[in-house]
Amino acid sequence: MSGKGEVNDLLVFNIGSLVTNDLGRDGLLGIVEDAAVAISDGVLEWVGDGADIPAEYGDLPRLDAGGAAVLPGFVDPHTHLVFAGDRSDEFARRLRGESYEEILTAGGGILSTVAATRAASEDDLYDSAVERAWRMLANGTTTVEVKSGYGLNAATEEKMLRVARRIDESLPIDVIPTFLGAHVVPAEYREDRDAYVDLVCGEMLDVCAPLARFCDVFSDEAAFTVEETRRILEAAKNRGLEVRVHADQLGRVGAAHLAAELSAASADHLDHATDEDLTAMSAAGTSAVLLPAVSFSMRLPYPDGRRIWDSGVTVALATDCNPGTANVESMPFVVALAALNMGLTPDEAVWAATRGGALSLRLEDRGHLVPGAVGDLVVLDAPTHLHIPYRPDADLVAAVVKGGVIL
Ligand code: NIG
Ligand code: FE
Repeated sequence: MSGKGEVNDLLVFNIGSLVTNDLGRDGLLGIVEDAAVAISDGVLEWVGDGADIPAEYGDLPRLDAGGAAVLPGFVDPHTHLVFAGDRSDEFARRLRGESYEEILTAGGGILSTVAATRAASEDDLYDSAVERAWRMLANGTTTVEVKSGYGLNAATEEKMLRVARRIDESLPIDVIPTFLGAHVVPAEYREDRDAYVDLVCGEMLDVCAPLARFCDVFSDEAAFTVEETRRILEAAKNRGLEVRVHADQLGRVGAAHLAAELSAASADHLDHATDEDLTAMSAAGTSAVLLPAVSFSMRLPYPDGRRIWDSGVTVALATDCNPGTANVESMPFVVALAALNMGLTPDEAVWAATRGGALSLRLEDRGHLVPGAVGDLVVLDAPTHLHIPYRPDADLVAAVVKGGVIL
């Protein structure tokens, strides 16, 4: 939602360093020094030198950036923001040596969040998700993808997607909803996986497709096979959904390759993707969504962001905010992790957290500050974007503007 009923005209001036991500300007980030931007009716109308602000913007409400850095609002393209329960006990068990897969196979992990989410009322789910969404906004995220996937039955998947929609309608954050009915096979279908895939492709898509923009599948060891993934994603495409895939996180099963074959918007995780998989993704226009907070929280090796970026594929960064593998909400923290551990430069990490995220969601109108884009931006309490990885624990977000409205 963008500031319905509020004044959404704004002139942001006295910007020391403006990240535009404008392809028509120099460098990856298209930085303009001593800049200003004008937003009219929620849409960016003018970007330029602070000394040349056109007279027509003289009467707009003004925000003084105080000589600091300004970036596009962060776009977080992979989250499991809606969930009930708490898995801190499982987290502690993993720190003592139990593996994620062992806990999941024994009926814990994702399945324990499924039990809690099925039992929660829609209002309770909404209340906890709203708190997370406000904290994301405070950290500069203005667009967030939100997956279902802790219901694993039609009624609870629908409940999760309704909560995602209510957050979009009630908060100044844009929510992009994704149906993830194929997160894992629920316990009651363990002896008959095919029947569960039928349910996802039939009744669950009937109910959930109208509430979602994307369909995702966790295609991995311990989740869905590549052939099951293909069936589900083809069914979703036939309902008009675009597709994305949790691909090759725990092992190389060929999911990233399938994502490319199906022209998926993104393949996410990619810890075990091969060079060939990346080349296929690049040719198909399938973005790579990297999730360094998972490697951090799970104490796993980080995927090689340098190799992935150099393959030519479009790279995005996301929190993967979820109760199991990355209970993380802050995109600045994710940028810092990527720059410090994945071989991306700070410029690349910032680009991937803004324009890369937007492209991975097939949203052309954001993640950059060019005329015609949405008026979503972040004012930092820092002179340049380099301070994001340089000061990884600092709260650097001084102000957030969504659709021209100062939050
Ligand atoms: O993206 N990989 C699968 N799904 C989530 C984890 C969900 C959970 O453990 O609750 C992820 O990492
Ligand atoms: Fe995920």
